[in-house]
Amino acid sequence: MSVIYSGECAQFQLNTKSFTYLMQVRNDYLLHLYWGEKLDERDHSYMFWEQGRAAFSPRQENCEGFILDDIPLEYPCWGRGDMRTPAIEIINPDGSNIIDLHYESHDVISGKPELKGLPAVYAEKSDEAETLIITLKDSVSKITVKLYYTLFEALDILCRHAEIINDSDKSVFINRAMSASVDFDRKDFDIISNYGTHCRERNIERSPLKYGRFNMSSRRGASSHVHNPFLIMTSPSANETSGDTYGFVLVYSGSFTAEVAANQFSSARTIIGLNSEEFGWKLHSGESFTTPEAVLSYSPCGLESLSANYHGIFRTRLCRGKYRDTRRPVLLNSWEACYFSFDEERLKKIGTCCKDIGIELLVIDDGWFGVRDTDNCSLGDWVVDRRKLPNGIEGIYNHLKPLGIDLGIWFEPEMVSPNSDLYRAHPDWCIHIPNRPRSQGRHQFMLNLSKPEVCDYIYESVAAILKSGMIKYVKWDYNRNMTEIANEKLPADQQREVTHRYYLGLYSLLERLVTTFPDILFESCSGGGGRFDAGMLYYMPQVWTSDNSDAIERLKIQYGTSLVYPLSSMSAHVSASPNHQTGHVTPFDTRFTVALTGSFGYELDPTSLSDEDKASVLRTAGIYKEYGERICNGTYHRLRNPHEENCSAWCIVSENKDTCIAGYVLTKVRMYENNERIRLRGLKKDWIYIERFSGREYSGAELCGYGIPAPLTLEYQSLLWIFERKE
Ligand code: GLA
Repeated sequence: MSVIYSGECAQFQLNTKSFTYLMQVRNDYLLHLYWGEKLDERDHSYMFWEQGRAAFSPRQENCEGFILDDIPLEYPCWGRGDMRTPAIEIINPDGSNIIDLHYESHDVISGKPELKGLPAVYAEKSDEAETLIITLKDSVSKITVKLYYTLFEALDILCRHAEIINDSDKSVFINRAMSASVDFDRKDFDIISNYGTHCRERNIERSPLKYGRFNMSSRRGASSHVHNPFLIMTSPSANETSGDTYGFVLVYSGSFTAEVAANQFSSARTIIGLNSEEFGWKLHSGESFTTPEAVLSYSPCGLESLSANYHGIFRTRLCRGKYRDTRRPVLLNSWEACYFSFDEERLKKIGTCCKDIGIELLVIDDGWFGVRDTDNCSLGDWVVDRRKLPNGIEGIYNHLKPLGIDLGIWFEPEMVSPNSDLYRAHPDWCIHIPNRPRSQGRHQFMLNLSKPEVCDYIYESVAAILKSGMIKYVKWDYNRNMTEIANEKLPADQQREVTHRYYLGLYSLLERLVTTFPDILFESCSGGGGRFDAGMLYYMPQVWTSDNSDAIERLKIQYGTSLVYPLSSMSAHVSASPNHQTGHVTPFDTRFTVALTGSFGYELDPTSLSDEDKASVLRTAGIYKEYGERICNGTYHRLRNPHEENCSAWCIVSENKDTCIAGYVLTKVRMYENNERIRLRGLKKDWIYIERFSGREYSGAELCGYGIPAPLTLEYQSLLWIFERKE
């Protein structure tokens, strides 16, 4: 049992394999007592004592020492004395913004209920998860809040969200509704987050928590390249393999906020949820509002095991569909091979070549529809450009089929070009504010998915192409952020709902598509990684990690992404050298070694490769086919940090520990400094492993204790080892 309730001390003890999360009801308030290493089952009431530190903060009547501003609260409110950042803020019909939530009741159910209309972690069997639902009530405003806590005991995961119900007979406004809030009784934490930009996503920022607020957020109408919707808190000395680590990840693709604030008593409050700078919701009488889900995890053993917890849950209980547990097809994408300049002949030549070099699927990227010879037109007109493809998609499909190669296609369905038939027919379908100029991003507007008729149009036009059965893979792109946000069909007091309604529209559209076409592999993309988030992973098990396909740059991007997202979610391709974004000249094997740690493919023109490079593609595609499944489902160990060192190294150990794939890349030469050895992790110490390329035998103890020499002296060189257990 993961949820243990003790009526005597009004205590909720939530246990997973490695952690305990404790709450208690005192004075009718729901308090947070503890989150950390697993505890035995007993009365832990001593963990909270009234310290009476008023320090200018008002207290409630007959509660001498019970000062809300100094109490660890589970879902803190605004207006009755807690001066810290609240989890919830409501504007009442009288205009006051106060809410005061008290414990009312609770319920425990097996399994995990769905979050209606929202992406969320799921339980496959009802006994793998248990859910505690705590009901809180404000008796004056008649607002009820249900807090959901689902525990995946074996995976060390706690999922949280809140449901806000208006039981009054008037409408109220939700100004703020966090998915989770956690109060810590100390502030000695480091905070780790991602920052970046287009083509330089998910760098790692680590800084000690200071007094004041650390806030990471997006107001872009997308989770964004700039920040990512997660936060990690660690003890100051924590590293990859030791120390307390806490994770908060939001399952959402739109604007978000994640914040840790250290207060006057040197305690800390962490919140994560919708970005209340732009979010608001009118909750009519009798209606309810569900927040997105936050996925929390804790590990006492450092960052690597916290990452493994997230990789485990996201790979197996967030991603769905046919490809969830399997390696993905080895694909070749036409973008960096041709950009917009292709026609049937060129694609056929590429297809023929693909067959000889082990490619399983050819993706026709941007440029196959409308009259799209550049990026300034035709988005929205999802009709084949017969100038380029006179025989339609069928022409390419019929060529590839006998070669045994599947076909994939690119869409950017959420967008419309001003120069398109769709825009000419429906200028009001894009997000805009009447009587204001409309800003363009990459020469395009965004369609307003908060309007059901727009979602229907997108569904019909995408489905019209997919219905033919010729398409096995879809790349779903999204290449700008939101401005002039409004929906003229909603009243003025509901305009702050538009971005969230956009995502509800998108999610329901995606649900419709992925359930209608369950055999298609969907890949999400947003100028690379501008929407690399757990929300999108629910519909599409992989994401184009970055528009920067340079292997050396990808080392950092993929390292940062791996903090919470599994390798199988990171689409990674071998691209041409010199690289199109950076000009780096990188050996083929280095490009391969880096791409091997993701869902694998190529982003180059195979017809222009030398015979030697063609042979390399064939060889490396073969390696991915053989090991892809073990990579997809294995445990990832970050051995060297390319953000801080002149190299990068990692290993992936298969579930049964039989196989270990290890890589090393030298990113910068420092004379006489680079001759080193890499100590692996995760192997069975007393097993013997044979290295595939050298045939040499090593014990697990040797590989983990002494390590494997990496005697490289030239920049951008790499080493790849594959160790397999000796029978
Ligand atoms: C985005 C994607 C690229 C490519 C182009 C096509 O930038 O990230 O991979 O598909 O669009 O326009």
